[in-house]
Amino acid sequence: MNILIVGSGGREHAIAWSVAKSPLADKIYCAPGNAGIAEIAECVPIGAMEFEKLADFAEEKKIGLTIIGMDDPLVGGVVDVFEERGLKVFGPRRNAAILEGSKAFSKDLMKKYHIPTAAYENFTDPAEAEEYLKTRAKFPIVLKADGLALGKGVLICQDLAEALDGLKEIMLDKKFGSAGNAMVIEEFMTGREVSVLSFVDGKTIKPMTSAQDHKRALDGDRGLNTGGMGTFSPSPFYTKEIDEFCRTHIYQPTVDAMAAEGRPFKGIIFFGLMLTADGPKVLEYNARFGDPEAQVVLPRMKTDILEVMSACVDGTLDQVDLQFEDNAAVCVVLASDGYPVSYEKGIPMSGFEKFKDKEGYYCFHAGTKLSDGRIVTNGGRVVGITATGMDLKDARKNAYEATEWIEFANKYMRHDIGKAIDEA
Ligand code: AMP
Ligand code: GLY
Repeated sequence: MNILIVGSGGREHAIAWSVAKSPLADKIYCAPGNAGIAEIAECVPIGAMEFEKLADFAEEKKIGLTIIGMDDPLVGGVVDVFEERGLKVFGPRRNAAILEGSKAFSKDLMKKYHIPTAAYENFTDPAEAEEYLKTRAKFPIVLKADGLALGKGVLICQDLAEALDGLKEIMLDKKFGSAGNAMVIEEFMTGREVSVLSFVDGKTIKPMTSAQDHKRALDGDRGLNTGGMGTFSPSPFYTKEIDEFCRTHIYQPTVDAMAAEGRPFKGIIFFGLMLTADGPKVLEYNARFGDPEAQVVLPRMKTDILEVMSACVDGTLDQVDLQFEDNAAVCVVLASDGYPVSYEKGIPMSGFEKFKDKEGYYCFHAGTKLSDGRIVTNGGRVVGITATGMDLKDARKNAYEATEWIEFANKYMRHDIGKAIDEA
């Protein structure tokens, strides 16, 4: 079948790479894609939010499955548009993508169905939020803009003054736009953070292998929050016992809760977990693959991605045996110096040929484009360098070695991706 992938980041490159391996794939298209994706798929200049144009394209090219990589189109209802036109599409409908689209919704869902998460209150009135912070809050405390905010709408506040500033930014100054029309105020948790992505068909859930992200810009987990500066998989802290607990108390209950609410979820549920002293708790849900979690999880997946995605759409996921390699993978993001604040774009890049025919080494493009036949930088996160290895240390050594292969003038990376491996 012909495949259309919607998105343009490293995650979509990893999805495209995985799709290209499948014997079920004929022609692969990506809208809008990037310079790396262009090597395995035909990139088409349609934006991810142009739902009708995407559906027109899918009809015209007889696309057998469209895969939505990004959160914005899912939350905006792209799946509903495709389904109304009888087109097969992988991802949750709008009424299920709200699991990521509204943090207030997801917190209320977890409370109602007894899914472990941080204690919280939701607010739509800034004056009530202020009153709560002044009288009942314990510090540090966490403020979260309700809606999508490019991963930046979460503020950890050390004292009342910081919290009142944060409240003003989110709800009054609308720093994150309408995402700040409502706000969650949440208990601060401590522990290791683990990402578990899963395939879901509305009833059945099949968790993938675990991963850990590094959200801060600077070594030692300092600096600003980013989309993610590097990942590794599996997490050595995600034990069999924790996995069993999460399957029983978090994963299946979330899928059942969505179905019970009349919002059956099909697609990817990404569980952001905190492994606290009181057991695993949900930090957040996302309705899509993580970026750069996909860049370490998909290279380790043995099962055909199109087989499992089709089963999610058809409601037959219980018949799929989802398998991962017994190895490890590490991804180090090469960013533009200055990310996530301001940085130069359009810088010529070199070294891509060094990845040719090197099994277990990948250069997933995130922010690149072709300019006069050359690949140049075109974003904050530029490429994700992934390597596999027989264990995490081996994978980390391989990944850092391969970070040297790609050159561009303002290249920036963290040097401590996977440092936690040494503490395991
Ligand atoms: P989120 O987008 O909800 O995953 O939040 C972004 C980051 O903020 C997470 O990866 C955590 O590092 C941190 N965070 C979010 N909620 C909490 C919490 N309740 N306690 C401590 N840290 C948190
Ligand atoms: N890497 C975190 C995310 O994709 O949200």
